[in-house]
Amino acid sequence: MSALETPNRLVLQAITTPLENDESGRTLIVLQDYTRMRRLETVRRDFISNVSHELRTPLASLKALTETVQESALDDPPAARRFLDRMTVEIDNLTQLVQELLELSRIESGRVPLERAPIAPKDLLQPAAERMRIQAERSGLTLTVETPDDLPRVNVDAGRMEQVLVNLIHNAIKFTHPGGAIHIRAWRQDNDVILAIADTGVGIAEEELQRIFERFYKADRARSGGGTGLGLSIARHLVESHGGRIWAESEPGKGSTFYISIPALT
Ligand SMILES: Nc1ncnc2c1ncn2[C@@H]1O[C@H](COP(=O)(O)OP(=O)(O)O)[C@@H](O)[C@H]1O
Ligand SMILES: [Mg+2]
Repeated sequence: MSALETPNRLVLQAITTPLENDESGRTLIVLQDYTRMRRLETVRRDFISNVSHELRTPLASLKALTETVQESALDDPPAARRFLDRMTVEIDNLTQLVQELLELSRIESGRVPLERAPIAPKDLLQPAAERMRIQAERSGLTLTVETPDDLPRVNVDAGRMEQVLVNLIHNAIKFTHPGGAIHIRAWRQDNDVILAIADTGVGIAEEELQRIFERFYKADRARSGGGTGLGLSIARHLVESHGGRIWAESEPGKGSTFYISIPALT
């Protein structure tokens, strides 16, 4: 029995057995393709190591903050309050990580049934924008929505699509400096409706445009403001399960635009 790994990483297992009672000395060879299984093992190992890393960071902060309060800040209530506030932030980050992990695992195993119904694009974009408006304004950003009334409807799970859009707008807010703008649009292109969220933010390097949709990928850890790096991979799963597509274009330093295309109902 032997496992063979060729340069293009095909993993095969060969089992050879001399045929019993066979005078010609013939041998039975069974080849099994383990490529997919080996790849799944690697994905699983990377996943666990990413989760562990993402858990360790907030836990280490919580430990340090707790020790600081225990050792010195108890006699200094204003300082103690500041440390407790920072602990709350770390706990919120942990909670978000766990929620997004559960969400991703539910979606990936197909346990999220879509409740699809025809809806006008503006009825998707406007509620998502309104949910994020206060947060955008607090960050010193303008948020505008432009959706023609005569667009064809799309057959989607409105709650799920709104979740995707809120995620994209939230990213736009996080990665755009005060004074910037977020512009949300929809239009028809052939048999699809395109939804676009454009920002005037920090942008994404060309070589990272594909990778940002991977689980845990963050282009610049320092800038990502406590995110988990799971938002876009959840968004991609949800869009693709609607038969749609999601992608991004960007010019570093100028801004990014995220696009979603969904088949139009005719
Ligand atoms: N609008 C944007 N502008 C610049 N970079 C972005 C934008 N949206 C996403 N990114 C990059 O893609 C990464 C992954 O995004 P996401 O999966 O939502 O994770 P998170 O928001 O938790 O960091 C972000 O960390 C960031 O580097
Ligand atoms: Mg995000």
